[in-house]
Amino acid sequence: IVEEEIDKEEIDKEEIDKEEIDKERFTKDQIKNLLEVPSNQIYGDYSLPCFYFTKIFKMAPKLIAEVIKEKIKMMDTEGILKNLEVVNGFLNLYLNKENHIKKLLFEGRKEDFGCGKAGLAQTVCIDYSSPNIAKNFHVGHLRTTLIGNSLYHIYKKLGYQVIRINHLGDWGTQFGKLIVAYQKWSNKEAVEEKGIEELLRIYIKFSKESEQNLELEEEARSWFVKMEQGEKEALTIWKWFKEISMIEFERIYDLLGVSFDYYTGESFYMDKVPDLVRELMEKHLLSESEGAKIVDLNQFDMPPCMIIKKDGSSIYHSRDLAAVLYRKKQYQFDKCIYVTGQEQKLHFEQVFKVIELMGYEWSQNLIHVPYGLVRLQGVKLSSRTGNIVYAEDILTEAIKRALELIHQKNPNLDQPKEVARKIGIGAIIFHDLFHQRMKDVDFSWEDVLSFEGTTGPYVQYTYARAKSILKKAENKPKIDEVDVSLLSDVTTYSLLKIISEYKESIYEAANRFEPSVIARYTILLSTAFNKFYHECNILNADENLRDARLIVVDLTQEITKDAMGLLGIECPEEM
Ligand code: ARG
Repeated sequence: IVEEEIDKEEIDKEEIDKEEIDKERFTKDQIKNLLEVPSNQIYGDYSLPCFYFTKIFKMAPKLIAEVIKEKIKMMDTEGILKNLEVVNGFLNLYLNKENHIKKLLFEGRKEDFGCGKAGLAQTVCIDYSSPNIAKNFHVGHLRTTLIGNSLYHIYKKLGYQVIRINHLGDWGTQFGKLIVAYQKWSNKEAVEEKGIEELLRIYIKFSKESEQNLELEEEARSWFVKMEQGEKEALTIWKWFKEISMIEFERIYDLLGVSFDYYTGESFYMDKVPDLVRELMEKHLLSESEGAKIVDLNQFDMPPCMIIKKDGSSIYHSRDLAAVLYRKKQYQFDKCIYVTGQEQKLHFEQVFKVIELMGYEWSQNLIHVPYGLVRLQGVKLSSRTGNIVYAEDILTEAIKRALELIHQKNPNLDQPKEVARKIGIGAIIFHDLFHQRMKDVDFSWEDVLSFEGTTGPYVQYTYARAKSILKKAENKPKIDEVDVSLLSDVTTYSLLKIISEYKESIYEAANRFEPSVIARYTILLSTAFNKFYHECNILNADENLRDARLIVVDLTQEITKDAMGLLGIECPEEM
């Protein structure tokens, strides 16, 4: 309410310099942070210190408080506030708890939590995971895979049509290198038996050998040119490498419960590059530099965007440009999101700039969503130096540990293997998504495989606890029939407040492309629920109280499951 008021005031007061206002604008979150909870209840449930707004309003805090008070009074049609009082520069707000609880409960039980309409008739493409074939899938790739998958769920919840694209790194000079390496140092049996391991081994060997033997590089380049020209032998080997890689990737995606609508990798756009080149030429954007074709971006303080290399082959940039033109035509997206490590920031800036220069307004709807590094013992991951942890190893280890724990703690559990998968994978996904996207992560086996504290299994456990209470209760009270005034104790009330904030956190996560908002939300909700569970007797309370509390339990389980779903985590019914 307050935010809207301030915006209106800004418009009313034309004499205030617009720029100034922008600097002084308060977001809803900031206003929320300004709200104080008075230590003495006689000053209300909340208090808004109005001296923060003096710069905007150019009035004394006390007068500002009066203005806001009148506006809020008018807007409070649901009677959520019992009373408002101005004391010096403070506006003290007294809640009508019963009405407020009703509203909180109502927010919590709305269909789809009230957020299914936001993205109606809008399409979002999400380009994520996109590993390079012939290389193992390591923990770094987990980040893009999990962030992308969560954004898919979040946008879908908001009613968007979401197209999931795996832009496989399946084209480029490195495949020329691999072909050469394969012919020199490997054979069919070895690749079939060891899969990606073997491809990686010979790739690393190639890198070492080519330092001394420059001819190798030349040979590799010519093999890639052959691939681009559609030469059969080259393509057959390449295709086979791709199949070998896909087997491993699919195994990981299955474990994680991640899927895609399209596996259109870089190779898919190879034959679309000539059209791109033609268009760039027609628009006078292409120039020559040392035999290569480039788009000059000097004037934008960026290195040139390479389109065609001097040997005539396409490159990562040109394939990405062809890809985005194709996607726009094919899917008519409203937003196209790319989830990759932050080291690709410049790459995407260049690609987006070229699209803008081509005259496409929609370049503004291309969004790079970067994330921080994953380090191992403080060092960047690298398959070349062997400083690496493979995704599949942690996934299987986590499942194994979860199963051991189940054997210890709950040996009679139904379907222990299935539950162990949900817990193990849940732990890993949660660990990854709980970190703010841009923060670097220091990989530690201990942290990733921990099941206690701020972890996925803790939230899953809370869900199972709520489910078990409901199972024991048998009857399911109706929300309209319970006496909500029984829920006004501090503990329950705080839990209800968190319940009512679910929708808001979904919006925040979507707007900031930040699944950690949801992960943090589930922890807040679980913690508040567990406090409620320990302090408030549920099943043995008097009938009315018991029914009212069961409603709270029911809402908690529903939201917990839904929120975990947004992260791509399943919740076992029992654990
Ligand atoms: N294959 C790339 C890598 O592993 C990521 C591709 C991201 N998507 C894109 N359209 N460029 O770093």
